Amino acid sequence: MEIVFASRHESNPQEWIDALQRALPEHRVRALDDPQAAEQARIAVVWAPPADLFQREPGLTHVFNLGAGVDALLPLPGLSDAVTLVRMEDGGMAVQMAEYVLHYLIRESRDLGRYAGLQAQARWQPLADIDRQAWSVGVMGAGVMGARVAQACAALDYPVAVWSRSGKTVAGTPGYAHGQLAEFLARTRVLVNVLPLTAQTEGILSQAVFDQLLPDAYLINIARGAHLVEADLLASLQSGRLRGAALDVFAQEPLPVGHPFWADPRIQVTPHVAGASLLSLCVRQIADKIRAVGRGEAITGVVDLSRQY
Ligand code: NAP
Ligand code: GLV
Repeated sequence: MEIVFASRHESNPQEWIDALQRALPEHRVRALDDPQAAEQARIAVVWAPPADLFQREPGLTHVFNLGAGVDALLPLPGLSDAVTLVRMEDGGMAVQMAEYVLHYLIRESRDLGRYAGLQAQARWQPLADIDRQAWSVGVMGAGVMGARVAQACAALDYPVAVWSRSGKTVAGTPGYAHGQLAEFLARTRVLVNVLPLTAQTEGILSQAVFDQLLPDAYLINIARGAHLVEADLLASLQSGRLRGAALDVFAQEPLPVGHPFWADPRIQVTPHVAGASLLSLCVRQIADKIRAVGRGEAITGVVDLSRQY
């Protein structure tokens, strides 16, 4: 059977093709534009594939996404319930997401940004001791990423809660359900977004949400740029409602030169690197699932197209 690999973003697609081929020697793994394609592929492994994926490969029954978020795949013409769309489950990303959040949480709660400013002035000036209870973390999304983020923050004794559709608790932290957003925000000072991008969650990081947070709040967005209403963030920073933000994802990526986020000292910008898919872990996970499908077994990580995640 042929497996096709398609990615517009991967800097070295051949590295992925070779690793998948080694893990699945019983199949032939090829690039989407391989002129020597012998047959139509039934399985695709993708990250930001070309929009005409399903036109070029009409025989696809399974599409494995190298990322956790499938929002870029859902609008592809030809995607239907006949295709099983499978997202990456962790793939080495969750621990990196936790590290990212801890970095910015600790930078704020321990005043490390201010100490950097004091060093620049050669000033030896201890600031106030940390009051951990004053840094309550609220994690939007209690899935694979959200659970690991919540667990990492809780392990350092920050007060943590998670918000999800179902309201489940993870890592021993209180869980708030979709309809309990107001209660969740009212106890949150550091708001961390790890939701999938869906019709329900697009634009959720807005003035209305920021206004319900505890005073002197901080935003960490590591999910998708379209979750954030950029003008509302700038207005909330300007009014002092938010003290700052760490942003890894943007409505337009790369973030355009001259965008106000670049030069704002209250905003920390990173180029969509909070959680990178690790090749060896992802290839092993996908190969295991392809073999399970071949044996007729159920697999996890299947996207519910009606829920969009
Ligand atoms: P996941 O396991 O599917 O978890 C999604 C979570 O969001 C679930 O807890 C779900 O609730 C909750 N949710 C979905 N819709 C909701 C709604 N309308 N209201 C409240 N909660 C809702 O996904 P994941 O693997 O954790 O990944 C989450 C996202 O992180 C991805 O979609 C991607 O956008 C982003 N991501 C970014 C990077 C990066 O480098 N920046 C890396 C990896 C992932 P239930 O549990 O009740 O279903
Ligand atoms: C990265 O952004 C992912 O969704 O895995």
